[in-house]
Amino acid sequence: MAGYTSNFTGNPILICSPGRINLIGEHTDYNMGFVLPASVDKAIVLAMSKNSSGKIRLHSTDMQPSYFETELTDNYSKTGIDWADYIIGVVQELQKEGYKVEGFDCSFGGDVPIGAGLSSSAALEGGIAFGLDELFNYKLSRLEMAKISQQAENTFVGVKCGIMDQFASLHGENGKVMKLDCRSLAYEYYPFIWEDIKVLLCDTKVRRTLAGSEYNVRRNQCETGVQIIKKTNPEVESLRDVSMEMLNDHEDEMDEIVFKRCAYVINENKRVHDACNALIAHDLKAFGNLMYQSHKGLQKNYEVSCKELDILVDATKDLDGILGARMMGGGFGGCTINLVYSDTIQDCMDRIKTYYNKKTSAYPEFHVVSISKGTHKMDSNRITV
Ligand code: GLA
Repeated sequence: MAGYTSNFTGNPILICSPGRINLIGEHTDYNMGFVLPASVDKAIVLAMSKNSSGKIRLHSTDMQPSYFETELTDNYSKTGIDWADYIIGVVQELQKEGYKVEGFDCSFGGDVPIGAGLSSSAALEGGIAFGLDELFNYKLSRLEMAKISQQAENTFVGVKCGIMDQFASLHGENGKVMKLDCRSLAYEYYPFIWEDIKVLLCDTKVRRTLAGSEYNVRRNQCETGVQIIKKTNPEVESLRDVSMEMLNDHEDEMDEIVFKRCAYVINENKRVHDACNALIAHDLKAFGNLMYQSHKGLQKNYEVSCKELDILVDATKDLDGILGARMMGGGFGGCTINLVYSDTIQDCMDRIKTYYNKKTSAYPEFHVVSISKGTHKMDSNRITV
């Protein structure tokens, strides 16, 4: 982290905060449903130290403008810099919860592709919460850090995201996916490591920020569906509590779009359970089919895919080496996630690239990722800052 030494003096702690993948369970988290994410070996590294200046001083190695500083206060305004808002949002939330934040310096950079659906924003938020906890000794649990980070994104940044990304980045374990119940926040790890299978991300390189997208609109549509069903089923609090039968009974009372959104969420929740059963049975073919079904739902019913993502999924349909593929994350751009037999991976990438180029004249970018440890402190002696 040369970024730290060229901007600040001091002896920083180093925090590694990973991006996340999600195998299945998309747009279910804010509907209090189930998700199956994992943290990966693409991460942000933050070098952080206390300063005695009463200021927060921030430096980004990869983004422009690269520097931002502000005095400490109880009420921050938006900074006008996307990356700085994630950090200041976390500071604001910590302060709201009564944790005392003092002046600090932070320089960060890494290899989580930005806006690609790997949640670089959650990695940054979680890394800051973890780093401030280390510096100022709040003794927060990882769950508390995840909640504060999500809150920062909801209230300060203005994206009404669920808790999946922040939770996954902070709770990841090597070689394991986690099935998270987004209502109770109970979670269970499932081994997800095979010698002959790799996780391949194909990046459309189409970028749309969630704030500027239809993300919040989808949330409201789900909420509208819940309100309608609740009238006759008062026990229903979220789509998590709704069955397809119940939804069908109310079809006439809601517009077609709301119905489609709700149907997708109900089916996707079921797919997460089915996918976990497929994992227990070591049936990766069944798992892959569920991924394709998930994509179809996101494309046709939830309508958060885009032409480029659909092309990347279509490109895999005749490839024997690919078990399953789907768009990943909020949508409207970013990556697809694919399960691929290792010995065919090069051939699959070549074919996907040719197919994609023929249809779009552009090239996708490929990332083979491994599931690895969640947010952690690194040994500073082994890294040159
Ligand atoms: C984004 C949000 C998550 C989740 C996904 C869709 O990544 O941050 O909370 O809603 O979209 O599954």
